[in-house]
Amino acid sequence: MRAELVCFNRECRARYAIDAVLYNCTACGGLLEAELAERTPDAAALKKTWRERRMCNVPLDQSGVWRYRELLPFDDGLERVVTLREGNTPLLDAPRAAEYGGLERLTFKHQGFNPTGSFKDNGMTCGVTQARRLGMKRVACVSTGNTSASMAAYASAAGLDPIIFIPHGNISYGKLAQALEYGARTLQVEANFDEILALVRQLAERLGIYLLNSINPFRIEGQKSIIIEMMDQLDWEPPDWIVLPGGNLGNTSAFGKALRELHAFGFIGRMPRLAVVQAEGAAPFWRLVHEGGEFTSVPKPETLATAIRIGDPVSWPKALHEVRASNGVVEKVSEQEIADAKAQIGRAGIGCEPASAATLAGIRKLRAAGVMERSARVVAVLTGNLLKDPDYIYKYHTGTLQSPDHGTIRPTFGNQPTVVRNDPDLIASLLEN
Ligand code: F0G
Repeated sequence: MRAELVCFNRECRARYAIDAVLYNCTACGGLLEAELAERTPDAAALKKTWRERRMCNVPLDQSGVWRYRELLPFDDGLERVVTLREGNTPLLDAPRAAEYGGLERLTFKHQGFNPTGSFKDNGMTCGVTQARRLGMKRVACVSTGNTSASMAAYASAAGLDPIIFIPHGNISYGKLAQALEYGARTLQVEANFDEILALVRQLAERLGIYLLNSINPFRIEGQKSIIIEMMDQLDWEPPDWIVLPGGNLGNTSAFGKALRELHAFGFIGRMPRLAVVQAEGAAPFWRLVHEGGEFTSVPKPETLATAIRIGDPVSWPKALHEVRASNGVVEKVSEQEIADAKAQIGRAGIGCEPASAATLAGIRKLRAAGVMERSARVVAVLTGNLLKDPDYIYKYHTGTLQSPDHGTIRPTFGNQPTVVRNDPDLIASLLEN
């Protein structure tokens, strides 16, 4: 077999078969990663093959994940792949957002264009394919919304039973609706994300259910394709910075791994720097990087950007490695900064969910601090779709959005709807002003 599971802990590096049902190293408890045994893919030939596949009607080639399968740990069982044609997400130039961030130019890679509306689909297609390879019947995850919608869709498409665990009262209706519609058995638990993840890990082992949170190394492998596709779209000319929000830090781990592999295999000539942005009320990774010492979790994480409302991110050791390997930085932003940045991304005609807007808020701060140059080439990854939190949006624009500590968030770029009588003269006079 071409790939193996390897302990991420540099002092351990224990190796396991690619079809072991494991999430942590049994020797040291470290995180696991998939490692491709074939060390020297032919970069020039693959770049050409991947381009040609874009024109092809074969489902595997149409997927923006499986098109790049040579860098994924599946050499057998491609017939078990479940794809909803994930990936294929656009790079969008946004001059107004660039101006707001203090940059000459800014490009968004919008993962909200995925089948279930977030970047989770890139990872889930691989995670669910692995569940099939292992002969698993049931899959589970804890989620603040996007993971559950994605897992429900892919598991049901694959004929598996999805079970999702969500924090009661802290998930958007849109996401809950997707999970229900895709047929997931849905448990709303009275605990926060971190507490439920500990619970689900225990239950998965006890009941023989395959766990599909981002601790699962196959999710991380799939999410590498976000970067591979981005570089392909940039004709293999890497930007100076890649900016992303950080919650459980799976994406940071995946992006860093993808960049290291692309660099080592000769697909790109240099490494872009990662900039990871957390919400102030849920910023344990920011604290680790800026204050040093041991990793400590945030027991009661708070932010309206529920996707990154995570106080005990499982992938922090990988993420720390990737931030260092890319000479990256970690920033944190306030609720007001996220809300205003989000409205700016909306006005650019693009739109995203609150967690994704942390990117632009972070760019603005990193520019103000002189960490990022005005002329830098920056790609920010918008992780989820605008329609995830319509409640948040309506409240922001009407000046009724409150931060978790009940402070009011100013509608700096508010856009109030106007209620009018059915009176053409009145409406005409309104519109003439
Ligand atoms: N952005 C969005 C839209 C997300 O849904 C998430 C995570 C993140 C960013 C953070 O990514 O964990 O890789 O650092 N959402 C998870 C969920 C927690 O359950 O859907 P990360």
